[in-house]
Amino acid sequence: MSTSTLPISPSAETKEDFLPINGTDYIEFYVGNAHQAAHYYQSAFGFQLRAFQGLETGKRDRCSYMVQQGKVRFLLTSAFHPDSPIGEHVLKHGDGVKDIALWVDDAVYSFEETVRRGATSIQEPLTAEDENGKVITATIATYGETVHTFVQRDQYDGIFMPGYMARSSELREPPDVGLRYIDHTVGNVDLGDMNRYVDFYADVMGFINLLSFDDKDISTEYSALMSKVMANGNGRIKFPINEPASGLKKSQIEEYLEFYHGPGVQHIAMATNNIIETVTDLQTRGVDFLIIPSDYYEHLTERVGEIDEEIDALQKLGILVDRDDEGYLLQIFTKPVQNRPTLFYEIIQRKGAKSFGKGNFKALFESIEREQERRGNL
Ligand code: FE2
Repeated sequence: MSTSTLPISPSAETKEDFLPINGTDYIEFYVGNAHQAAHYYQSAFGFQLRAFQGLETGKRDRCSYMVQQGKVRFLLTSAFHPDSPIGEHVLKHGDGVKDIALWVDDAVYSFEETVRRGATSIQEPLTAEDENGKVITATIATYGETVHTFVQRDQYDGIFMPGYMARSSELREPPDVGLRYIDHTVGNVDLGDMNRYVDFYADVMGFINLLSFDDKDISTEYSALMSKVMANGNGRIKFPINEPASGLKKSQIEEYLEFYHGPGVQHIAMATNNIIETVTDLQTRGVDFLIIPSDYYEHLTERVGEIDEEIDALQKLGILVDRDDEGYLLQIFTKPVQNRPTLFYEIIQRKGAKSFGKGNFKALFESIEREQERRGNL
């Protein structure tokens, strides 16, 4: 099926990319117990522990564990003391994403140019050094209390960053599950704020509006949302921005905003080359996915045409399929991964398709609403 709505804007091809970004550098989470979160991402999601900072490295106020799989780096950070902004963040939001860090060639320029264009400064450029070289970072604000740190690491060949020590898994190197890179990271913002953040990513960061979905595309009997996908010049960074739309009952975005106590990251999509193997491994390790009703699969071939995968295998795992003009994609969504109904993950395999699974929105959102109803939040 074709995605409706806005194609890439005509000026996009010719416009100079004033903010070159090489990719996502890491995603930092503020969590209540980084030690246990690191274990979860290793045991359940197949990440490897790579680096650590904390008391053993002379860090007296916090500890951080860096776990990695493919190009995906998660940094899990907890505070030691109650008067810490990290602790306050966790108290207010629960475990959640603080920083979507972006890998750039020039962190000072990236910071100065975005601040000149209206970004709010969180941290001025800072150079950290150790025997492996130096890393320059600088941070700006985005939606809610979420931030973007620009990371310049061309003069560094250590494991992660100055101040971290190499640390390996306690789990005798459990095999990974085939996660390769971050495909997209989705933010939920307040009603009426979507276009404000679309403008922020366009004007301040030079992103383009790749796709838009309105409440006619994304609505069920009960609830609705609107979404616009912003992408940087080379397409390696994709940030869909959601806001709630009015429906008969509370939308999943409102549920998120209520329990996160403000805007924040809703889901992170991680790409695999073999979604059947990846999801089989994740389910074996205890990761919980949304349940898709069996009637979804009855007319799947009619809707998406011939695909390489056996429908039975997809149905057994609950994997969804959608097609656009350029190919198809396979995707599946976890249930929330912390106490509150906030952050969840998507696993995605693209076979040509560059879109986001619009044909699956209805089945997906009905499944989310069944979970909302069980939580008393619909
Ligand atoms: Fe997604």
